[in-house]
Amino acid sequence: MAIADISSSAAKSVATAINAEGGTAIALSMDVRVERDVNDGMATAIARFGAVDILVSNAGIQIVHAVESFTLEEWQRVLSVHLDGAFLTTKAWLAHRKTAGGGGTILYMGSVHSKEASALKAPYVTAKHGLMGLAKVVAKEGATRGIRVNVICPGFVRTPLVDEQIPKQAVALGITEQAVVSNVMLGETLDGEFTTLEDVAEVAVWLASFPSNALTGQSIVVSHGWHMQ
Ligand SMILES: NC(=O)c1ccc[n+]([C@@H]2O[C@H](COP(=O)([O-])OP(=O)(O)OC[C@H]3O[C@@H](n4cnc5c(N)ncnc54)[C@H](O)[C@@H]3O)[C@@H](O)[C@H]2O)c1
Repeated sequence: MAIADISSSAAKSVATAINAEGGTAIALSMDVRVERDVNDGMATAIARFGAVDILVSNAGIQIVHAVESFTLEEWQRVLSVHLDGAFLTTKAWLAHRKTAGGGGTILYMGSVHSKEASALKAPYVTAKHGLMGLAKVVAKEGATRGIRVNVICPGFVRTPLVDEQIPKQAVALGITEQAVVSNVMLGETLDGEFTTLEDVAEVAVWLASFPSNALTGQSIVVSHGWHMQ
């Protein structure tokens, strides 16, 4: 398994944890917005493992403001990490799968925000909706080569991306941090609970290991019922 991240230390710590559990992982330093980084990282992973059968396009950032307070640079930064990153990793991986004889699966990390909107998150919601379109196109183009493409759409998971936005949303909305958690983030769930990393990992393993090409071009929402489709 190759773990790619713009933060080398983050990639190394995940790879080290996987290796400590008996897996085999390498860490790659990669800015998913930079084509050369992506291509070099893909080449390194292929050289190490012989093939990359599963691509998980997961890198993401969040910036919270009202639309009119976003600078163009912030807007483009969020879109770029999510959409340029998904495009470039997909392009590099598809070229590899062509020479490998086809087959394989892509998982895009969407969000409930691929389906719903929240105030203060214009570029993030736009990008996560955009991933749905990319997934459907790549599912259509890849089908004859046995390539499946699906999107995982989690509700709120307690990661640094979420922890950072709690105080910012509290200020922007004029409410307490506890109210951000219980009303804004979890208010629409059925049980007031965060989705967990383990929940998302279960869905990823299930989607990646699905035994036929029947399951492609789909999105699976894992959000404690926040969004029902
Ligand atoms: N946490 C949630 O509630 C939640 C919900 C739905 C979807 N997601 C999505 O899950 C994915 C992972 O988010 P997370 O919550 O684990 O956040 P996180 O901040 O913990 O992890 C995001 C990772 O992306 C990396 N990254 C950022 N910019 C990058 C770049 N240009 N190139 C390569 N790596 C880059 C960061 O270094 C970080 O390790 C994101 O796509 C996010 O939108 C998160």
